[in-house]
Amino acid sequence: MRSSSIKYTLAAGVAFAVATVTPVFAEEATTAEQTINVMNKLFGSHPGKRANHAKGVVAEGSFIPSAEAAGISKASLFQGPPVPVTIRFSDATGVPTIPDGSKNANPHGMSLKFKLVDGSEMDVVLNALKYFPVATGEAFRDLLQAVADSGPDAAHPTALERFTAAHPAAATAGGTAKTPSSLARQTYNGVNAFVFVDKDGKRQPFRFRFVPVQGEDILSPEDAAKREPNYLMAEIGPRIAVEPARFTVQAQLAAPGDPTNDATKPWPEDRRIVDLGVLTVSKVVPDSAEAEKALLFMPNALTDGVEVSDDPLIDARVQAYAVSFGRRSQ
Ligand code: HEM
Repeated sequence: MRSSSIKYTLAAGVAFAVATVTPVFAEEATTAEQTINVMNKLFGSHPGKRANHAKGVVAEGSFIPSAEAAGISKASLFQGPPVPVTIRFSDATGVPTIPDGSKNANPHGMSLKFKLVDGSEMDVVLNALKYFPVATGEAFRDLLQAVADSGPDAAHPTALERFTAAHPAAATAGGTAKTPSSLARQTYNGVNAFVFVDKDGKRQPFRFRFVPVQGEDILSPEDAAKREPNYLMAEIGPRIAVEPARFTVQAQLAAPGDPTNDATKPWPEDRRIVDLGVLTVSKVVPDSAEAEKALLFMPNALTDGVEVSDDPLIDARVQAYAVSFGRRSQ
């Protein structure tokens, strides 16, 4: 099956890449290093910038837990009081100048650092995909390489066509993330499964969803393409200065037997949703470009009462984010 959505979403770099990229799988490199190497080839190397989600804006806000949240997880985050949160919204790809309305800028991301009462932090890293194109870090690396090898002059079936034939979600996942009118008007999903632990030790797998209280507002592709290159990054500050943006923080609970180790498989929509509280995004920081350099959001930076599941993508992400952070900090 041929997919244009995958090109737009994951490998946005197709539009920027040379026709063929030489494989960069040096034998001694880890999967994470190989992944970042392919990202750098696809998107270009931009010193000081993230290998993916390079363009972003940093904001501040707070989280107020619901009464229900305390019953499902013993995490201090859900016991109250409200805690401060640092939020970074982003465009996909490692291209720091990508136009916000470009299809390649999907999925937009939302990363959060909750400042817990004991002085520690908990991170949540979301994007607008409803499910991921692949289930493992190795497969994600291979997908990026397939995109790199499938330039306009590639013979059919291209490497990407062969990859999507063998990985069906890779052909469809990209189409689940669309361009919003505002970073405050899009739902962001956890995609990976995590596990709540309550005060009695009961474990409940779940996936995060951050849903805009004002509702989603999605642009048509034609409208999105006409917007100013920085329309999303420029809009969020003035918007929340007038009225903070609010998101309902939700957990979709897995039913027994739902897979937790495969981010390509969304759970049925009728699974129970628990409201965990409300995130308020109240102001953009004064020097966002400087602030984002020091920020590193790690999908496994959790707290007692929230744990990683058996989803292998979580560790793959942790390894890749560490490599990207190491390179951008040099
Ligand atoms: C194997 C799968 C994945 C790989 C290899 C990967 C790789 C990366 C890398 C290298 C970065 C830059 C990190 C940094 O320099 O701080 C990044 C950032 C990001 N990724 Fe992923 N990613 C993966 C899956 C996901 C998933 C499933 C989501 C969302 C559910 C996601 C959302 C984000 C977001 C929002 C950022 C921006 C972080 C920030 O604001 O600092 N990624 N990703």
